[in-house]
Amino acid sequence: MSSTEEPTRGADASDSVLAPPTVAANGGGAMVRLEAVRKSFGTNLVLDGVDLSVDRGQVMVVIGPSGSGKSTLLRCVNLLEPIDSGRVFLEGEEITRKGTNVSSIRQRIGIVFQQFNLFPHLKVMDNVTLAARRIRKLPKKDAEARARVLLARVGLEEKANQYPHQLSGGQQQRVAIARALMMEPHVMLFDEVTSALDPELVGEVLLVMRDLARAGMTMLVVTHEMQFAREVGDHLVFMDEGKIVEQGVPTVVLDQPQEERTKRFLRRSLQLADSLDELHIDDQEGGVE
Ligand SMILES: Nc1ncnc2c1ncn2[C@@H]1O[C@H](COP(=O)(O)OP(=O)(O)OP(=O)(O)O)[C@@H](O)[C@H]1O
Ligand SMILES: [Mg+2]
Repeated sequence: MSSTEEPTRGADASDSVLAPPTVAANGGGAMVRLEAVRKSFGTNLVLDGVDLSVDRGQVMVVIGPSGSGKSTLLRCVNLLEPIDSGRVFLEGEEITRKGTNVSSIRQRIGIVFQQFNLFPHLKVMDNVTLAARRIRKLPKKDAEARARVLLARVGLEEKANQYPHQLSGGQQQRVAIARALMMEPHVMLFDEVTSALDPELVGEVLLVMRDLARAGMTMLVVTHEMQFAREVGDHLVFMDEGKIVEQGVPTVVLDQPQEERTKRFLRRSLQLADSLDELHIDDQEGGVE
């Protein structure tokens, strides 16, 4: 990353573009709350009674083995998947009840995926402004002015007129973050956003996420980046087989896990770095651990 593209560090919490809306008049409380959420795909029980609460301004990190339900959890919060039972609340409002305005709820929830999903035929500026112009009916001039501020904040001001294929994966992912921020979300969901990146591009995306956290954004982050979890996370949740097995302060859970399953997962995560010989294909879970 050249110096001109370096994301701004130490964002000022008073910045009106990145800072979330001030706490609602009805006081603090949870930004996102899940209550006994259950979700199956056919006979596969994927979320098995999940209770979770993300406070305003909090960075909640979710870790766990492949297939444990992390992506499904995020998709249920964003109403991309209907839940079977339980309830999901956004800013105190139950969003899983019948008759909610899904579109208006989704505007308050930004989501960034592992695959950036930028439109290849649209320039960066148009990728970033499209939804805001179409859905929020922002005039082109206003949308572009806001997009320029956000692109600068993710270190990509100079790329506004380029096409996605002219950018690195890390740059594309930063565009995807700027695009999500265009809708002025109250909470941001991140699903393994650095997993598809070359190792040397991971850092620039994590820095943008760290700055967003410092600016006060509420974030629910699924990641394998344990250093990010330690340094940026306020709270860490370990999931396995659709259940929250253990949670707490990230350094405490990572350094002194109490549950056997957490210990095993963390040991295997570390083992990966040691030797491929120690890995095996887990037939039941269908993945390499
Ligand atoms: N749309 C779907 N239809 C059927 N099964 C699904 C669907 N989405 C997820 N699943 C199943 O639900 C389980 C949990 O999947 P999920 O993607 O939430 O796991 P994950 O923890 O995000 O895993 P990974 O770390 O590999 O991303 C898996 O067994 C998966 O095969
Ligand atoms: Mg996933």
